[in-house]
Amino acid sequence: MEIKTVNNYRELSEKAAAIVAGELNRRPDSVLGLATGSTPEGMYAQLVKMYNKKEIDFNDVVTFNLDEYAGLSPEHPQSYHFYMYSNFFDHINIKPGNIHIPYCGDQDLDLACKEYDQKIKDAGGINLQILGLGVNGHIGFNEPCEYLYTDTHLVDLTAETIEANSRFFSSREEVPRQAVTMGVASIMHAEKILLMAAGENKARAVQLMCCGRITTSLPASLLQLHRNIVLIVDREAAALL
Ligand code: GLP
Repeated sequence: MEIKTVNNYRELSEKAAAIVAGELNRRPDSVLGLATGSTPEGMYAQLVKMYNKKEIDFNDVVTFNLDEYAGLSPEHPQSYHFYMYSNFFDHINIKPGNIHIPYCGDQDLDLACKEYDQKIKDAGGINLQILGLGVNGHIGFNEPCEYLYTDTHLVDLTAETIEANSRFFSSREEVPRQAVTMGVASIMHAEKILLMAAGENKARAVQLMCCGRITTSLPASLLQLHRNIVLIVDREAAALL
């Protein structure tokens, strides 16, 4: 793991965006794995700025998002569909057909999950996977559990995640109890991973992810096995390293 410690959130966002831009300039038809949550918001804003300055182009880029809540329509302001379009896709020249976000509608969910994994394979796998980190060490919505799923699947969210994400909803009760997430195989098969963590509430998870045992009770610890991972952390998140 290459760990880059930065002074603040602005630096974290700029550094992350520079890594993504480097990847796009090297390979304009990159397949990006994308994350949501508050951590990557600054990176997306930075990428939009770079796009407006014509420093990067998304015409041939393909994206796969990590996860989506079950039971929220794409128009719901807290859905990850809504997040991705309002923070990023609406502001760049990505082709609509190149955008992929797990779907949690009323279709056959098992089939939809299998199709999602197949599309990732058909695209040649993920070149650069962006990750955030849950306070409980989850990646995507792969929650601490006795076992981890390799493939895209429906997951029950833990009480900790529901609590952490309730800040985006008007009450804890409104937070969906389930989500669809990419499994750990698609993440681990990515050529390169860029994980961002900011704030003191992530310090313990960062410490365990980097220095603890590899365990399914902290899914991010699996990333110790990845050969090409960059971790960008601000001072608060790096406090226990
Ligand atoms: C969310 C998402 C993750 C995200 C993480 C941290 O629940 N499912 O993909 O990385 O939790 O979110 P945040 O960046 O808001 O702390």
